[in-house]
Amino acid sequence: MTIIEPILSLAQGCDASILLNCAPGSPCEKESIPNLSLRGFGTIDRVKEKLEEACPGVVSCADILALVARDVVVLTKGPYWDVPTGRRDGRKSVAGDALNNLPPPFFDATRNLYQFFIPKGLDAKDQVVLLGGHTLGTSHCSAFSDRLYNFTGTMMPDPSLDKRYLPRLKNKCTSPSDTTTLVEMDPGSFRTFDASYYGTSPRADRSSPRTRRS
Ligand code: HEM
Repeated sequence: MTIIEPILSLAQGCDASILLNCAPGSPCEKESIPNLSLRGFGTIDRVKEKLEEACPGVVSCADILALVARDVVVLTKGPYWDVPTGRRDGRKSVAGDALNNLPPPFFDATRNLYQFFIPKGLDAKDQVVLLGGHTLGTSHCSAFSDRLYNFTGTMMPDPSLDKRYLPRLKNKCTSPSDTTTLVEMDPGSFRTFDASYYGTSPRADRSSPRTRRS
């Protein structure tokens, strides 16, 4: 996952606490299992360094994350929006907060909705819109290889996977134990912020009365 993922920060708001380094003996968000694949910390550090040179102690890391996320969307041909600033950086970072509040990759859309989104005051439409964040970026094969090779212990692929997409994914993720290969989450357009991700999402999600386009 990139730095975009914790921006949603389902736990404590967008306070940049993911950037804090852990104190010895106290596991923090950065070291939490769902965050171990996060990349992009160096980018934020470089922006912070320049800003500290220009105006020390003024721009928070939480504002930098929000501004960088917007700029990435613009640079990848997505829309522009004004980002209000003035966020304060969090000072607390606890591994368990990430573990308990970030949905794991194997969750289905319905369980995500009821277990994570609705309790946070977000509805089905919010979930669909936010998942559109996957128009950018890549995923490790290990996040979904069980669905290609051994779905729920059957040693067979997930029967709900698109029959044309399955061989393409198996071609990239050649073994169930591959932990390093990255695949595009929005095939053919993973560096463009567009709506084509929705063309690849499961038909069941698109036709559901809760998530259908109104
Ligand atoms: C239902 C909640 C979500 C689940 C289960 C989920 C799951 C995942 C998984 C499994 C990956 C691949 C991680 C890896 O292998 O490194 C990923 C990556 C990513 N996610 Fe999510 N995600 C969720 C919500 C979101 C939201 C709300 C956004 C943005 C608004 C988002 C944006 C991204 C991006 C941009 C990447 C690509 C990261 C990269 O290329 O480094 N995700 N997500």
